[in-house]
Amino acid sequence: MEDCLNVLLKRRSIRSFKEDPVPDEIIHKILRAAQYAPSSWNRQPWKFIIIKDKQKLKKISSFLPYGKFLSNAPLAIAIISSEKESDLWLIDGSAATENLMLAAECYGLGTCWIAESDNNEIKKILEIPEEYHIITITPLGYPASKPRIPERKNIEDITFSEKFGLKYFKND
Ligand SMILES: Cc1cc2nc3c(=O)[nH]c(=O)nc-3n(C[C@H](O)[C@H](O)[C@H](O)COP(=O)(O)O)c2cc1C
Repeated sequence: MEDCLNVLLKRRSIRSFKEDPVPDEIIHKILRAAQYAPSSWNRQPWKFIIIKDKQKLKKISSFLPYGKFLSNAPLAIAIISSEKESDLWLIDGSAATENLMLAAECYGLGTCWIAESDNNEIKKILEIPEEYHIITITPLGYPASKPRIPERKNIEDITFSEKFGLKYFKND
């Protein structure tokens, strides 16, 4: 229990990476964890694209306004989800993404959710069929440094009892 919670608390968004390659066995294990995410009617509408080609990573990062650092990682994984397979493709794909990121943390690997990844130019580069949306493209690699923990809101301020606004936990 302790170890599991620690993984959740220790995960940080990583934006700088060592050059060390990530073994395929580990990539496989991380994707297996992603695959075990819950999905509506167990439809599993996701697919994964592993991107290692440096030129491709650089080109993709040029279309990511907040993800220029993508090309500094040894590889990236695009998590894509099909609107034909599930009307809840965004939620399903997001659950898989979070599982993937937490599993990566278990192996000492860094990831970062990058917004605005569902871009037509990027879809063209990766030859992604029309019906798929890109949930995100996360870099994957061993962190070059561990960033400070971005502050969280107080549990006391965001948890209510029976109705909105009535605090469940009292502030000290
Ligand atoms: C939907 C979503 C989109 C995000 N987009 C970006 C992004 O484009 N670029 C980036 O550097 N971080 C992005 N992040 C990472 C957040 O900035 C980060 O999760 C937040 O600051 C908390 O930090 P932590 O992940 O280290 O706990 C995104 C996170 C989520 C969940």
